[in-house]
Amino acid sequence: MKVLTGSGSIAKQDVSALVVGIFEGEQLSGSATQLGTAAVEMLQRLLAREELSTKVGKASLLHEVPGVTARSVLVVGCGERSEWDAAAAFRCAGAATKRLATSARPSVALDLGETTDGVGSALVAGAMNGCVGQDLFRSEKSLHAIEQLSCWSLSEPALKRGVCLGEAMLLTRKLVNLPANYMYPEAFTQQAAEVSVASGLELEVWDELRLRRERCGALLAVSAGSARPPRLLVMRYAGSKKQAPIALVGKGVTFDSGGLSIKPSEGMLTMKCDMAGAATVLGTMQALAALQVASPVVAVVGLVENMISGSSYKLGDILTARSGKTIEIHNTDAEGRLVLADALNVALDERPSHIVDLATLTGACVVALGTDICGLMSNDTAWQSQLEAAAGRAGELLWPLPMHDHFAEQIQSKVADIKNVGEGRWGGAITAAKFLQEFVGTTPWAHLDIAGPAFYDSAKNFMDAGGTGVMVRTLVELVEGVK
Ligand code: BES
Ligand code: MN
Ligand code: ZN
Repeated sequence: MKVLTGSGSIAKQDVSALVVGIFEGEQLSGSATQLGTAAVEMLQRLLAREELSTKVGKASLLHEVPGVTARSVLVVGCGERSEWDAAAAFRCAGAATKRLATSARPSVALDLGETTDGVGSALVAGAMNGCVGQDLFRSEKSLHAIEQLSCWSLSEPALKRGVCLGEAMLLTRKLVNLPANYMYPEAFTQQAAEVSVASGLELEVWDELRLRRERCGALLAVSAGSARPPRLLVMRYAGSKKQAPIALVGKGVTFDSGGLSIKPSEGMLTMKCDMAGAATVLGTMQALAALQVASPVVAVVGLVENMISGSSYKLGDILTARSGKTIEIHNTDAEGRLVLADALNVALDERPSHIVDLATLTGACVVALGTDICGLMSNDTAWQSQLEAAAGRAGELLWPLPMHDHFAEQIQSKVADIKNVGEGRWGGAITAAKFLQEFVGTTPWAHLDIAGPAFYDSAKNFMDAGGTGVMVRTLVELVEGVK
């Protein structure tokens, strides 16, 4: 999709469709008033008859609107004006392009009214993502590509930033949506290599031999049952400030069968999504480079397949992680924390000022917070607050879970330094985070459990089902906000 700044009267645009917005409780407001008297009168009549919804993302498609050159006009509800923020803008714009993409509409002009740059860039990212679906392998696409999107009432910087964020999310979503027979550790590495060349990032690839030499015993154990060799990637963005980097660490389990603690079919079906943490990190790195953000960032992703074979790791096995800690295995389906144990340890070698890790780590987090909110767990209240603030600006949802010491008692082992699951299921998101905390030392660290929001089982009105690109915008905001 080409995204441009629109110019001239929107009513006179020779495009497939126009998008205008209306707010709750206002007669007729915002961009809809730009359509000319005849159109405004028609919309006012429809509004009075309650034929147009002002609810966020509720869209009404009209044809042959008087005085308007475009073939169709989509009127999208923007909700309460006082609640108009990045989240609402992302949803409205996504709902608009998703609706328009149900048939071939190559060119679209969009005006949801004047906004701040932060909201404007979320709007652009939403529009770019709403019309792209998960049907990568369908010969007949359910959503048709919008080739050109012209935007009114947006500043040039907001538009540019929105395009960078939108493209990063599309990359993340595509990587998550590619099934495990296409997306395995080497394939992810290939994608990362392409991104790093195009974006001018430094990429270091650790193959199996290097992982062995580096004693990444936890990551290698998870990978042992797979015919696909593992990888670990270190990607560096230099930035312009001379300071310690922020480390972004991602779980890249390209398929999680559960291993010998095998998952039932229903639970396994969507486990191509288990590399979403790594995909989010890669998408974010692309955006940071495109936006030329000042702070240096290092990314570390651990890439493995969790499979079953004669060489699989087993229950009762004792692993030695790269840090030297020994881990007793009680469940081979708690594999993400093992991959992250070594990836976090590699990240520490980069002497980062702060760490954030992202992982589709636990079903327990989805039980706790539902499918739309990311779990946030940290060892540092200041760093935690910075993440909360960044998510607020980006319009994404995360919520802190407590990290009291007693949760760590659950991962004590009688035969090794720690074991890889807690006692029973309760508090499972937190015991997983406590396990990770063992591998970050005293560095300020935050863990985002994205098991719920990284992958939609069913479509929303603003985005198709499948990979979502969640937290890309928050991480960019976070890095931009670091002094
Ligand atoms: N990848 C899963 C977590 C997951 C569940 C992600 C649902 C996305 C949606 C993770 O590796 C896992 O299997 N976790 C176990 C941990 C348990 C064995 C302690 C879980 O949540 O059941
Ligand atoms: Mn698992
Ligand atoms: Zn997993």
